[in-house]
Amino acid sequence: MKKAIPGDVKDLRLSKEGKRRILWAEHDMPVLGMIEQRFRKTKPLKGLRISACLHITAETANLARTLKAGGAHVALCASNPLSTQDDVAASLVKDWGIPTYAIKGENNPTYYKHIEAAIAHNPRITLDDGADLVHAINSKHPEVASRIIASMEETTTGVNRLRAMERDGKLKFPVISVNDARTKYLFDNRYGTGQSTIDGILRATDILLAGTVFVVAGYGWCGRGLASRATGMGSNVIVVETDPIRALEATMDGFRVMPMSKASPLGDVFCTVSGNTKVIRKEHFRLMKDGAIVCNSGHFNVEIDIPGLKSISSGVKKGVRRFVDQYTLKKSGKRIYLLAEGRLVNLAAAEGHPASVMDMSFATQALSAEYAAKNDGKLLPKVYNVPEKIEREVATLKLKSMNISIEKMTAEQVAYMSSSELGT
Ligand SMILES: NC(=O)c1ccc[n+]([C@@H]2O[C@H](COP(=O)([O-])OP(=O)(O)OC[C@H]3O[C@@H](n4cnc5c(N)ncnc54)[C@H](O)[C@@H]3O)[C@@H](O)[C@H]2O)c1
Repeated sequence: MKKAIPGDVKDLRLSKEGKRRILWAEHDMPVLGMIEQRFRKTKPLKGLRISACLHITAETANLARTLKAGGAHVALCASNPLSTQDDVAASLVKDWGIPTYAIKGENNPTYYKHIEAAIAHNPRITLDDGADLVHAINSKHPEVASRIIASMEETTTGVNRLRAMERDGKLKFPVISVNDARTKYLFDNRYGTGQSTIDGILRATDILLAGTVFVVAGYGWCGRGLASRATGMGSNVIVVETDPIRALEATMDGFRVMPMSKASPLGDVFCTVSGNTKVIRKEHFRLMKDGAIVCNSGHFNVEIDIPGLKSISSGVKKGVRRFVDQYTLKKSGKRIYLLAEGRLVNLAAAEGHPASVMDMSFATQALSAEYAAKNDGKLLPKVYNVPEKIEREVATLKLKSMNISIEKMTAEQVAYMSSSELGT
């Protein structure tokens, strides 16, 4: 009898649709595809156990397939309780034999039980999106930690968390910050989050964005993308920032910039993408218009003070539409619509980033895993940048897949650029 693949998914019967979506995403991931072909031949990850705590999406499935093609034994768990695509999780187990522990809407105990299952897989390399897996290994599993070659981190909040652990002397193994690669944040954070956040808001609410006032909190890579996409849809965008340089940049990019207290009475739609906590609080909700829509696309569901919102509401109607909860404020009776329980709206209410942008992020992940395997025992417990060579390789392959060739410097130009006699 065929041995059952371990895992915990919603329903294996969903696998057919999951497989269709994984193969559809594969078309738009040519760089990862080229790496997969090479990995299949050279097996750079042969015999290595890899656990990945990522959003369980069709794109992640293709990354897991690539790592498996490279010879790794891969297990997956969700990096957010609401972002799992149940059909993809089913297909990973059934069609690709990859143990997957993820159910959309799982409660916190199940979420952490799934992380423990990924740790029980005994990884030597880990991949994380938000550092929950590394944090659990680092704090509770010293034996596993002592065997880790390296971990890859996918998102800004995870990198911030890991740098804090490094600074406090708590990081026990090396980490490669995939988020800080230009082949990641310039495209995934900016264009991926920009487009998919709008997609999530529209799928949840079906509103017309043209003519709305759209407030973006945080003008980092995600916020820049979101502000530009909301403008493209005809919204009048207000940016809320705490950093003077980024606030200045937003101003010169043509946006109105002001504190949240000033933006609160003006906005129709509010979206946080700051990586910070309690960016929208009670005093802001009280100032908002009746019917204001509030959501988050930052990593954790702490950017909107939901307990605060509850405490000033006389009632909450859950699910007035899918992914929309209505809070009615005491006294004023104003209604505030919170999307996706304050979790990443692009992954909860839509499908996350399009495959073609995850192609670069996950190609960077796959090549970083290969780099870690090659450097087993040579890396220190600190946060490393992705090697420049990997970034150039990913960008070159992406251009090739898009049939774009670029200018090459002549020998004279190379010599000129490195000479001290510029201008002669
Ligand atoms: N939704 C997704 O799929 C997705 C994708 C990538 C990153 N992320 C997450 O989005 C968040 C932002 O990522 P990023 O790469 O843009 O980070 P970033 O560090 O480039 O930008 C964050 C910005 O928020 C500003 N900020 C901090 N506190 C603020 C406050 N109280 N009010 C207004 N602005 C404030 C910072 O000054 C900074 O400019 C992170 O949590 C990251 O993990 C989500």
